Amino acid sequence: MGPGELLLIVMRWAHGLATIVWLGGGAYATLIQGRQLRELDDRAVAARVGAATGAEFGRWVDAAMIVFIVSGVVLTFDRLSSRGATVQYGVVLALKVALALWMFGIVQGFGARRRGRLRVTPGRVAAVRGALGSPRTLLWLGAIVVLLAAVLKTLYENALRGT
Ligand code: HEM
Repeated sequence: MGPGELLLIVMRWAHGLATIVWLGGGAYATLIQGRQLRELDDRAVAARVGAATGAEFGRWVDAAMIVFIVSGVVLTFDRLSSRGATVQYGVVLALKVALALWMFGIVQGFGARRRGRLRVTPGRVAAVRGALGSPRTLLWLGAIVVLLAAVLKTLYENALRGT
């Protein structure tokens, strides 16, 4: 095994770990912890725990984002420089990256809201914007991005096999 292959293994490992941290942590925070905090009678404690854990998880998510970008760029170069990269592959990869960028935008919004730089305004446009940037949307986007990764793998392997 050469140094190039070793680098790809490390990048794939890092990409996988970042996915686990992001989606596993996000699912726990949104579907389990968030629900429990909303049902807590002591609103002050709920707000304090929500803010503290949100800020701490935010740091992990920021780190995961950097890992996604670095490892994603290396994986993209590797895939696009091979004969397995068809037009179809490029289109699905572009969609995957666009959805990933949407996810990154959503977490930047969470961070800005936590730091008080983004105000929640009333109105229909604000409601649509809120839904498009909600924690649940983030989880669905993550699930779709992982699905697209599986599609990419199949497209790549099929192209190499010539099917
Ligand atoms: C800048 C953003 C990103 C780029 C450029 C990128 C790029 C890539 C590329 C090129 C692959 C290889 C696909 C193949 O097998 O042919 C890949 C795999 C993968 N990506 Fe991403 N990705 C990004 C963000 C994300 C995000 C946000 C997630 C999860 C929410 C994710 C999850 C995965 C998974 C699970 C795989 C499969 C890994 C494997 O089979 O080894 N990626 N990505």
